[in-house]
Formats: sequence, structure tokens, C-alpha cells
Amino acid sequence: MRVVRTSAEAAFRADRWRAAGLSTGFVPTMGALHEGHAKLLRVARGECDRVSASIFVNPTQFAQGEDLGKYPRTQEKDLETCARAGVDFVFVAEAHDIYPEGFQTWVTVEELTQPLCGRSRPGHFRGVTTVVAALLSIVRPHRAYFGLKDYQQARVIERMVRDLHLGTEIRPVETVREPDGLAMSSRNAYLDPAARGVAPRIHRALSAAREAVLRGETRVSEIRGILARALAPGEDLEIEYADVRSAATLEEFSDGKARRSPDGILLAVAARVGGTRLIDNVVVPAES
Ligand code: PAJ
Repeated sequence: MRVVRTSAEAAFRADRWRAAGLSTGFVPTMGALHEGHAKLLRVARGECDRVSASIFVNPTQFAQGEDLGKYPRTQEKDLETCARAGVDFVFVAEAHDIYPEGFQTWVTVEELTQPLCGRSRPGHFRGVTTVVAALLSIVRPHRAYFGLKDYQQARVIERMVRDLHLGTEIRPVETVREPDGLAMSSRNAYLDPAARGVAPRIHRALSAAREAVLRGETRVSEIRGILARALAPGEDLEIEYADVRSAATLEEFSDGKARRSPDGILLAVAARVGGTRLIDNVVVPAES
């Protein structure tokens, strides 16, 4: 496995693969890799002739006061994870390369970024779409892999790629969880033992709400109530949102009735556990 440190070299290598008629997959990350990332790498490895990944803690998707400075950086271990997953090259990017001097061009997806994380993290998705647009322009992969743990992010990226004709197929990958249901996340490293004990409540709440929907519950207020009761907010867990929306458009159900057809229902939670912001979701698919 090669470690590539400039956008020019990443573009050069990816171009050569394409010119040789090989199919290419790409997995963008911010490092601090865990089993969730490894799954994306393995799925890409299984579907493509050549796989590249990027590691870049993208400053523009963090707001003032967020955890950019303390975001976990574990590069050596990350490179081993990539090598074990069969990645061909890892692009370890630097801010001055991704954002050239005088940088002033932003990519914004309008409506899909308004609710959920967009509401609580203004500017976050603009940073995500801009950096992903830049990375896709450098690597120009046939397929790029995104985790459904960040459900809204995956939908936003799909929209951007379609709207800008970027020509990459976006491949969503199921959320990888700890045995007790907690979604794997680089930010789980921030949890102290007490917070780690509380965090699985998020997945339990989502599972309880999913069961209710599968039993036929359609009232959004009732589903929200189930989420809130199971989350049991208090000093140890603070709810940022616990929401029920169309899985395709992320819109609310205008009449307060959650319908599984035609789009499926997104149940999504963001909560602060011991000061750490965690997100998770489940999608109840459309009835066939
Ligand atoms: P990061 O948080 O490092 O995540 C990189 C990719 O791994 C994302 O597509 C994310 O959804 C996926 N992922 C994270 N945890 C996962 C889990 N438990 N199961 C499955 N997939 C999981 O998301 C970002 O970085 C950045 O916003 C990025 C897209 C790289 C742009 O900077």
C-alpha cells in the first residue's frame, strides 16, 4: 500500500487506474479508523479493482468551539487498518493542498441540509460537501462509499453528486455497531466509563421506536414519545433531536402520520452523553 501526500499524486495514480480500464472505489475518512470504516474499505475492496482512501480532518466542517483541535489522530494505526483491508493507496491530505491559497468556492446542498444535524451544526454540511466535492474531483472514482451511520450526510452527498453530474456512484454501507448496539464512532473514544454505559440507550430507543412502527404505529407524536421515554434524558444524556422523517427527503410528515411507503421512515437521534455528541438512526423500510 502506498501513502500519497499530495492531491497531484493522488490524481495521477487514480488517472492511471482509469486509463488502464480498472474500476475504482474511494473511501473518504477523517482517520481515527474503527470497524465501521474498515467495513467501508472491505465493501469497496470487494466491488472494485482498485481502492483508495483519504484521511483528512477537514477543518471547514467543524464550527468554532467544536472538537477540531482534539479530534483523535491515530495515523499509524489507520494506515495499518487500510493496508489490512487491501487499500491500494491512502491519500493523507493537508489543508493547504485541499484549500489552495485564496480559496473561496463552496458547495451547498440546500434543503436536505436544513433539518436534523444541519439545524444544530450550522455550516457543517457546507464543509462536508465542499471537501467531498474536492476529493471526488481529485480521485474521480467510479464508486465512493459512505456509512449510513451518518444518514443525512450520505443523502446529502448523493444529492450533490447527482446535481453536479460528478459521475461517481455513491454506495451506502450499513452501520457497524458494538455488541451492545452502540454505533461505532471515532468520537466514542471521548466517552468515560459512565458515559459509555449510558450511550447504548440511543440504539435501544431507536429499536423500541422501530418495533412500534413495525407493529403499526403511525402517529409521529407517539413515535417521538417512545424515543424520548427510552432515551430517558437527564444529567447523563441530553437530547439534541429525536426525530421521525421521510427517509428519502428528510421531510416531516405533514399530517403527523409516518408512512412507510413509498420512502421508508427515518428515526434519527442526536444526543450529548457526558459532553460528547453522538448520532444514530434506523430506517424502517417501505412496505413492499
Ligand atoms: P468519518 O467520521 O471519519 O467517517 C468516514 C466514513 O465512515 C463516513 O462515510 C461514515 O458514515 C462512515 N462511518 C463512520 N462510522 C460508521 C459506522 N459505525 N458504520 C458504518 N460506517 C461508518 O464522515 C466523515 O468522516 C467526514 O464527514 C467525511 C465524509 C470524510 C468528509 O470529511
